[in-house]
Amino acid sequence: MEERIQALLQEVTSYAATDKQSIETFRLKYISKKGTLGELFEELKQLAPEQKKTAGKTLNQLKQAAEAKFAELNEQLQATPTASTDLDLTLPPIPNEIGNLHPLTLTKYRIIEIFERLGFNVADGPEVEDDWHNFSALNFPPNHPAREMQDTFFVEKSGGEKGDLLLRTHTSNVQIRMLENQKPPVRAIMPGRVYRNEAISARAHCFFHQVEGLYIDKNVGFADLKQTLYHFSKEMFGKDTKIRLRPSFFPFTEPSAEIDISCLICKGKGCNVCKHSGWVEIAGSGMVHPNVLKNCGIDPEEYTGFAFGMGIERVTMLRYQINDLRLFSENDIRFLRQFQSVM
Ligand code: DAH
Repeated sequence: MEERIQALLQEVTSYAATDKQSIETFRLKYISKKGTLGELFEELKQLAPEQKKTAGKTLNQLKQAAEAKFAELNEQLQATPTASTDLDLTLPPIPNEIGNLHPLTLTKYRIIEIFERLGFNVADGPEVEDDWHNFSALNFPPNHPAREMQDTFFVEKSGGEKGDLLLRTHTSNVQIRMLENQKPPVRAIMPGRVYRNEAISARAHCFFHQVEGLYIDKNVGFADLKQTLYHFSKEMFGKDTKIRLRPSFFPFTEPSAEIDISCLICKGKGCNVCKHSGWVEIAGSGMVHPNVLKNCGIDPEEYTGFAFGMGIERVTMLRYQINDLRLFSENDIRFLRQFQSVM
């Protein structure tokens, strides 16, 4: 009997249990009266008085060891979170990662800031647009190539038929929407996303961002356009920046000009970015065509104005010396994080 008790003592002290059920099994086996311990106490009664004395002693040790183990196992169970409550409130919190604004947003905000100080409002317009606001009201003739499928994403009707709706190809549509709803003086900038059916490369994308500018009032002249963009360029790119206006053509402006700024990367000496010319184009511009004003019910004899359309990606690339347009839409966190400390 002594040997059996010793073996049980071993079993009891090395018993491991991590859930309620195995603790209960332990209790039934070693502690309950009907368990092994109970049986042994029964057996003890049958022994001769001498043996009874020694065996009784070890059996009591076993009983105490079993009770101590039972208490220990219960304590352990309470300290360990179970599957249903495995929420450990003592763990340190997962740190909140601070995000940052996208570089295009940073540039947009800076552009807005500069023009707001010149008294320009900020306006918004739809990205899904009709032919009138995107083309016709802007004096595009019916056969203009921009209306063709290779440049414009048309929104098809349910039968697959080409509809009147399209994804706007420029932010100039907002000029029309503003002038339809507001009588001059109008002085606003209109940032937004535009779409063109272009193959994606380092220099072109099927969507990008523009900011449109519009100033209509009595006696607004070309000198106002030039001075406004000159001021903008110096504010945006630094006081040493020069601007150059090149004659151009847009259906909605007459005369029209493309605006270049002196290349910030090579300081005008010639590099890849400026294609060795020392100048980089940032916007199209011009005096609003009389037909556009007429289309919006404004008398071109009374009012004149200028407009411009600037590429936000282009300005951002110059500002931060980024050489691939695709980086803006790939959402690569390693790229985006580099603008964390900018604002
Ligand atoms: N809408 C033209 C484009 O997407 C840019 C532009 C040129 C806008 C001249 C204007 C403007 O307002 O006057 O290329």
